[in-house]
Amino acid sequence: MSTPAPTPLHHHIAQLVARHGPLPFSTVMDSALYDETHGFYTAAGGAAGRRGDFITSPEVGPLFGAVIARALDSTWDELGRPDPFVVVEGGAGVGTLAVAVLAASPRCASALRYVMVERSPVLRARQRTHLAIAEPATALGVPGGHDGPVVASLGELPSARITGVVLANELLDNLAFDLLERTPDGWSEVRVGVDSASADLRLNRHLVPAGDAARGAGERFAPAASVGAVVPWQRGAAEWIADAYALLDRGRLLILDYAVRTTAELGNRPVGEWLRTYRGHQRVDDPLEDLGTADITVDVAADQLDAAVGHAAVVRTQAELLRVHGIDDLVARGRREWTERAAVGDLAAIKARSRVREADALLDPQGLGGFLVLQWSRGMS
Ligand SMILES: C[S@@+](CC[C@H](N)C(=O)[O-])C[C@H]1O[C@@H](n2cnc3c(N)ncnc32)[C@H](O)[C@@H]1O
Repeated sequence: MSTPAPTPLHHHIAQLVARHGPLPFSTVMDSALYDETHGFYTAAGGAAGRRGDFITSPEVGPLFGAVIARALDSTWDELGRPDPFVVVEGGAGVGTLAVAVLAASPRCASALRYVMVERSPVLRARQRTHLAIAEPATALGVPGGHDGPVVASLGELPSARITGVVLANELLDNLAFDLLERTPDGWSEVRVGVDSASADLRLNRHLVPAGDAARGAGERFAPAASVGAVVPWQRGAAEWIADAYALLDRGRLLILDYAVRTTAELGNRPVGEWLRTYRGHQRVDDPLEDLGTADITVDVAADQLDAAVGHAAVVRTQAELLRVHGIDDLVARGRREWTERAAVGDLAAIKARSRVREADALLDPQGLGGFLVLQWSRGMS
């Protein structure tokens, strides 16, 4: 970990280290992504989209949202068709998934209150360019009335309890985490320090003895880790998931992300495989380089989320979820429409052809199709 080209955030972090000593990785990551002036998602407005070779599922095209709309309808039915039926989307970015869900005209539309939660004010402002956004109180406070769909936008999770669904696509991999390393005498924390011998105040990796909570996390989630193994302690994701689950009076919490089942699996792999940094759609090696100009992500460890919720999620792959909710049927319809309209070559024909390509990307077992979908239910089976 070193940084040859100091950014304004780099100076800020170096000053904090001078004042407080080596910083938790989570502090540095949170600044790098969300610092109000210089953060990747806030200042640069690093909207989701491409990460290396991948594009997020909603950004592939409208098919993903069309299938999610069917999944929402199915939960609405299971809940007994409540009105309002509140869907809270965490990390909604510019609102691409919301647009696609609404465009699919779900059956639950008249009861639907769709609340986008996005931390970045820059991205929240961009939601307004393609969505009519109501006051949050209208989405969350007015029961009944069959006047949906209503869309609202917030900077953080609401506090009112809901009947409905909380969902997040590729949010948790972006939430700040700490790094723990197994040492001969227990666990240490990998902090971020400054190499005071370097003229440009290079940031470096600095081991400190783990505090009680960090040691407890290491022992709980990676009890058999070998000396030298490093694991992420995903406190940001755990806090978010606990808050999201607590929101539900009745309904489902649905997380779609690149995830693994256990933290221990990550401890058996090189850090660079699960802690990834992307700049300009390319992988870069060092998360501490040019802070604020790159996206920093981590494979999400499902066992840490289960611990935060208090029980285990039902786990499927994204391909399985999309198949259960009819992606093959939508693609077959697309093929038929394309065959019928290819000669006309109009917008409907192009959309139909695009659906087939979108499905290939969304179902690819080596890519988006292999993502995990974690589902916890509350007040329903
Ligand atoms: C990788 S992007 C995914 C965007 C979108 N869900 C998609 O799949 O295209 C992650 C988004 O989560 C947002 N975010 C990060 N922390 C958040 C939080 N605590 N609450 C709401 N949004 C957050 C970021 O600003 C960013 O827009």
